[in-house]
Amino acid sequence: MLMARLNLVLVTLFLTGFIFACGNSEQQDDSGLTEFQLNHGIGPVTERLDIGEIDMDLANEGRQIFETLCIACHQLDATISGPMLRNVAERREPEFIMNYIQNPAEMRQRHPEGQRLDEDYTIQMVNMGTSLEDARALLEYLRAANEGEF
Ligand code: HEC
Repeated sequence: MLMARLNLVLVTLFLTGFIFACGNSEQQDDSGLTEFQLNHGIGPVTERLDIGEIDMDLANEGRQIFETLCIACHQLDATISGPMLRNVAERREPEFIMNYIQNPAEMRQRHPEGQRLDEDYTIQMVNMGTSLEDARALLEYLRAANEGEF
């Protein structure tokens, strides 16, 4: 009788552990982030983008947005209040860049790379109210800048 109860307890524990493990199968480490989030950032972009060759019209649109909303804190070739962004498109996945633009606070709080950046900079990036289309154009600008345009 006692053994039967013990077995039941063990089976229950086993099943609970199993369900727990399944529920977390998307998570990679104790940061609690999915593999996608670790590589591509946390935010509205939850799937890989289909980006092709650089679209210079879109990049020029992004440049205008950059020079209006981002230039106070970022330059391409110098670190000012925020990190220099010349080669950010080489260092980061496209989705990561868009998610950072759209969701800087959560990136800083929950993403290991955001946490690292937060330690390095005294001020914090804010969400500039950009639409996803704006963020896509900004990404194109940063991709073009990485190729030596601008
Ligand atoms: C108020 C200053 C400020 C503004 C405005 C700002 N940023 Fe930032 N940005 C920062 C700081 C500081 C960091 C790093 C730490 C953090 O997130 O606060 C950062 C980080 C980033 C990163 C991540 C860089 C990396 O190495 O991964 C990207 C990309 C970025 N900003 C793009 C932009 C774009 C594009 C805009 C304009 C829409 C913008 N930022 C507006 C201050 C700013």
